[in-house]
Amino acid sequence: MTQKSSFIAIFPGSFDPITMGHLDIIRRASTLFPKIIVAVADPLHKKTMFTLEERIKLVKESVQGIPNVEVQGFTGLLVDFAKKVGARAIIRGLRAVSDFEYEFKMAWMNRRMYPEVETIFLIPSEEYAYLASSLVKEIALLGKDVDGLVPPPVEKKIRETILGKYKESKGPSLEFD
Ligand code: PNS
Repeated sequence: MTQKSSFIAIFPGSFDPITMGHLDIIRRASTLFPKIIVAVADPLHKKTMFTLEERIKLVKESVQGIPNVEVQGFTGLLVDFAKKVGARAIIRGLRAVSDFEYEFKMAWMNRRMYPEVETIFLIPSEEYAYLASSLVKEIALLGKDVDGLVPPPVEKKIRETILGKYKESKGPSLEFD
């Protein structure tokens, strides 16, 4: 059994973009594990609003000051990334009951492929229970501020890019997942 001192937990996601809910989970995880790697995925079937490089940069800027946290991008299977970095745990946030089915399927499938890694679920603060990256994108694309829903670096990026474009365009473009 690996010693706690080398216990690495990964917190994977698309982070398109990172929200205050994600940050809340990262903060909680950083008090439980000696090292957290926030693993920013390059999703196969999803068209993202922000590129992988942009998402990594925004996550890095957002987690500044939180101890024991590192940020890395990955492509391919999460379990392969977990093996590569020597992670013992995958952290996922659970909000509502509706998250359960998707999360259980992923956790079981990841266990089947790599039984050495455990999925651990954490729940965010109540105030973020309804928060989702997809809602943030929709609100931003429809021209409203997302302050308080996302970390300041993301808010800035959205203000400079999405909200600016909305004002110039005839209407929103909802071509993202
Ligand atoms: O924040 P998300 O979009 O819900 O995160 C989903 C993510 C990135 C964790 C998941 O899609 C994933 O692990 N992708 C990597 C590819 C993979 O391993 N797929 C099989 C999952 S059982």
